[in-house]
This record gives sequence, C-alpha cells and structure tokens, in this order.
Amino acid sequence: MELYTSIVDQYEDFAAYAAADSPCFADWATRVAADAEVQAWIAELPPIKQQPNLVFAAARWHGVAAPGPYTALRQALLDDDGTIVATISRRSTQTNEVNRLATLAPVFARIAAESDRPLALLEAGASAGVCLYPDRYTYRYLLGPEKTPATWTPGTSAGELTCRVKGTFEVPTGSLEVAWRGGLDLAPVDVDDEDATRWLETLVWPEQDERRARLRTALEVARREPADVRAGDVLTELPALVDEASKHGEVVVFHTAVVAYLEPEDRRRFADLMSTLVASGRCRWVSNESKTVLPTIAATGPDIPDGHPTFVLGLDGQEMAWTHGHGRAMTWHDIP
Ligand SMILES: C[S@@+](CC[C@H](N)C(=O)[O-])C[C@H]1O[C@@H](n2cnc3c(N)ncnc32)[C@H](O)[C@@H]1O
Repeated sequence: MELYTSIVDQYEDFAAYAAADSPCFADWATRVAADAEVQAWIAELPPIKQQPNLVFAAARWHGVAAPGPYTALRQALLDDDGTIVATISRRSTQTNEVNRLATLAPVFARIAAESDRPLALLEAGASAGVCLYPDRYTYRYLLGPEKTPATWTPGTSAGELTCRVKGTFEVPTGSLEVAWRGGLDLAPVDVDDEDATRWLETLVWPEQDERRARLRTALEVARREPADVRAGDVLTELPALVDEASKHGEVVVFHTAVVAYLEPEDRRRFADLMSTLVASGRCRWVSNESKTVLPTIAATGPDIPDGHPTFVLGLDGQEMAWTHGHGRAMTWHDIP
C-alpha cells in the first residue's frame, strides 16, 4: 500500500495488496489502473485523497454495490454531482484493524518481560483506538506448515484473534499488565458516534464479513474502557504525551498503517524522532508499516522478495517479523 506515487502505481500496488482478500477491490483497482478517464477524475482530488481505499469506500458509502461490477463504480465516479467528492474530502482512511494485535502483542510481551513496570500503551495514529487492548483477547497462533494451534490469553478475552505463523516464534505466556492506554490521531474516531463507526465499517473490504464482525466486537471493548486518544499530529505532539504516559508505566509508542500517510520527508522526521526518544530511554518503539515506508527498519531484516506485499514489524528500529497488513499472518525472524 504505497501512497504518494502515480495514480497508476498506487492502484496497481493496491490491486496486489488486496488480491488475496478482496477480488472485488483487486478487480476495481486493476481496472482503474487501465482507465484513463477515471484516472483523470481521481487526479482532480488532492494527492492524499487519491487512495483506492478512500475512493472505493466513498463510492460504497453512496450506494455503489461491492462486491459488484466495475462499470457501476466507473459510472458513479464519472457522473458524480459532487456528493462522492464531498465524502472523500470530509473523511479519511481510518481503517482500524484489531487483528493487527496478534502481531503486536508478542512484542508488547517481550517489552513487559524486560521491564519491571506495567505498560503505558501510546498508539500513534490510533483511529478509534481498538488496538489499545492487547490484554482483552485470546490469540490463536497457527504454527508452521502444519498450522499447529497454540493460544495465549494475556488478560480477559472478548474473542479470538487468529494469526498464521512461520519462523522462530515462541508463543508468549503469562499476563500483560496495561496501566494506561492512549494515543494521538489527527481525527480520533469517537466509538460512541454511530456515523463515524459506520464509516469505519465501510472501510472494511466488501467480502470481509468476519473483519466487520471483529470490528464491532472491538468497538464494544473500547467503549467499556475508554482510552485517552487525543487529537494531534504525531510529528509534533508525541514527545509531550510520551512524558505524560511515563507517569503510568513503561511507555510503548506503537503505530500500524500510519506512517504511510506522512509525506516521505515527514516519514524520515518521524523515524528520527522515535530513534531519539528510544535512545534517551523515554519509550520503547513498536512499528508495523508497509515494507517501503520505513526502509531503515526493513533493511535490518532479511531481503524482502520483489512482489511480496508485506508489512514490517520492528522493535526499537530492529526488524522482527514480516506481517500481513491486517495481522492475519507473520513470518517471525530472530532478533539479535
Ligand atoms: C489506516 S488508520 C490505522 C489505524 C490503526 N493504527 C490501526 O492499525 O488499526 C491511520 C490513522 O492514522 C491517522 N494519522 C495519519 N497521519 C497522522 C498524523 N500525522 N498524526 C496523527 N494521526 C495520523 C489517521 O487519522 C488514521 O486514523
């Protein structure tokens, strides 16, 4: 999922990213990449608004059926009277995927084992904050080629999050103590706002009813124990919130599918900021971003095969695993 490239590149990249999970979106994206008229329509949008996820979700919001034929999407965009554009302008891609916790929680457990304090979880780009509750699920790992099941419940359990695992992975044991949950987002999603949570559901890809059900459960979990997610830009507001969170426990700043939304120069600034915070002992840093987004972290792990769409999970700047973008699978690597 690469933003800030040409429209054709973005839609081709998205088609590969969605291929295994959404035949409809893979088809739509492939066809947009070959449709000069629709590309010209998309080119009128500001660059950050040209993303396939956002354009497709806005079309669905206004009644385009998905799964459904590309011709209906095409007609809706080209005939738009400004309604779809208004939704694209007003809303953004805030997809909140709780299954990403299946890949993040083992790293949180490692940090907890290295600290004598409970965790203060600070999510950069939290959306509705559903990933702030690692201690509220059972993790079901399917290990190796045999997919041997193993579970871990580090607290109470509102449901199971499943992840296939390859590589040298040890299923964590024991509990996770979380003393504080909070974060930053440019536009935090209010879990009690019906319109806002319906938009989150629309962002889930069409064929993925299971993800939509999981999102509803995750929103319930978040409603029961509200997290302290504040409006703010991670590039400017993070250090102050890190210091505030440190009063509660060992601060873990984490982010998934967020840094991709920063301009390339700001991605470097963000990585520098995090490296400085880690070097000064103010927090730990768990990153989980698409492979090209934080290249210095990806470079500390094995070479990623061309054409393999993956996220890269890192701890304090060191690659730990390749992860599926929605947390369904991971390939774990040894940390030196
Ligand atoms: C795709 S969502 C990911 C949400 C969540 N991290 C997850 O993995 O489910 C990206 C989120 O990052 C937020 N975001 C993007 N740029 C940001 C910035 N500069 N500061 C704070 N939040 C930002 C967006 O508002 C959005 O809610």
